[in-house]
Amino acid sequence: MAMFFSDFAANLGGPTNPLYALHEQLSTQGHNIVDLVRGNVNEHGIVYPPEILQEILMRAADLARVYRPDSLGQLAAREAIAQYYGTLRIPAEQILITPGTSVSYWYCFKLLAEPGDEMLCPQPSYPLFDYIARLAGVEMTHYRLVESRQWAIDLNYVENQITSRTRAIILISPHNPTGMVADEQQLQGLAEIATRHSLAIISDEVFGEFLFGPDAFPRIAATDAPLVFTLNGFSKMFALPGMKIGWMGVTGDTALVKKSMSALELISDTFLPVNEMAQFAVPEVFNRGQNFLARYKEWVTECRTAALASLEGIAFARPRGGFYLTIPISDDEERAARSLLEKSRILVHPGYFYDISPNHLVMTFIDEPDSLPAHFAEIAVCVRSPLLS
Ligand SMILES: Cc1ncc(COP(=O)(O)O)c(C=O)c1O
Repeated sequence: MAMFFSDFAANLGGPTNPLYALHEQLSTQGHNIVDLVRGNVNEHGIVYPPEILQEILMRAADLARVYRPDSLGQLAAREAIAQYYGTLRIPAEQILITPGTSVSYWYCFKLLAEPGDEMLCPQPSYPLFDYIARLAGVEMTHYRLVESRQWAIDLNYVENQITSRTRAIILISPHNPTGMVADEQQLQGLAEIATRHSLAIISDEVFGEFLFGPDAFPRIAATDAPLVFTLNGFSKMFALPGMKIGWMGVTGDTALVKKSMSALELISDTFLPVNEMAQFAVPEVFNRGQNFLARYKEWVTECRTAALASLEGIAFARPRGGFYLTIPISDDEERAARSLLEKSRILVHPGYFYDISPNHLVMTFIDEPDSLPAHFAEIAVCVRSPLLS
């Protein structure tokens, strides 16, 4: 029976990418494949201490027994998040709890844009965006990160990409997949552009705990940008993606913040999508998770160090934050990724998956610590002389 479907539903799918077709074939044949794409720390034994989490959830279930929703999210949770930001001063009434950063993006798009309006996001980009943008009916336009400058933001380019339909600039720092961390000067420049063009900034800080330098984490909310949405959540921070706790902190010009909060409250109230038990658990997840977080950060740093040791002598921008790295290669990237999968059973992505050109490999260094040097040694061989691997 013929029936009308939205463009989104009607145009789903398409042919399976050849790399994933090969992945499926090898998996079906029973081969074990090392996935250097997902970056899921849980799979490597990094989990929030289960006995502590159990106690926290038991207590949270008790607190949530009588349903009294708050459309911004439970106050206790928002106060704990406000405390996390410390001197940045994002008060609880300027925080909205969401079921994750992806949903926070969708809320921001719905708040700021009409169908066809543009969101200016970094290139290399993160593939999830395209889907969120399509679902929200907005267009993604791109600004450049410059590989030869540690993937720094090209501020002139940002400004040149702004049109009369641009509604916000998306900042991802630490950036997935380049590992770029924007410094204060870059953030200042971005804030000035946002002011000149009356644009909001959506700042994705999900990798903000994972930094590999001595510096404190520079945040765009500390600048004079007119309106900033600071996005984060428990997914990466406490390795709790299944808890579905995210948030956005809204800062900037008082009237713009007020307007944003009342609209966001209504959007959120329409769905009330965040599990109440998870919300009541937020303060204790912060309070009792600090030792775990310290160990987890150390573990991520060790993974990075081991991966970089195996890649010594190879020219690429070392990641300054996050879980990912991006390496330029001389050979065809698709052939190299295929060869790694076929011969070494290692899955990495070709750069074009992230709008990087030409010829890069993208991967996470989140991996089994014992086998990480061997896996990255294979990658090093492939990058140095791809046809031999
Ligand atoms: C840069 C970036 N932002 C957001 C997300 C999604 O976060 P959440 O799990 O909170 O939806 C991811 C997930 O990998 C990510 O890499």
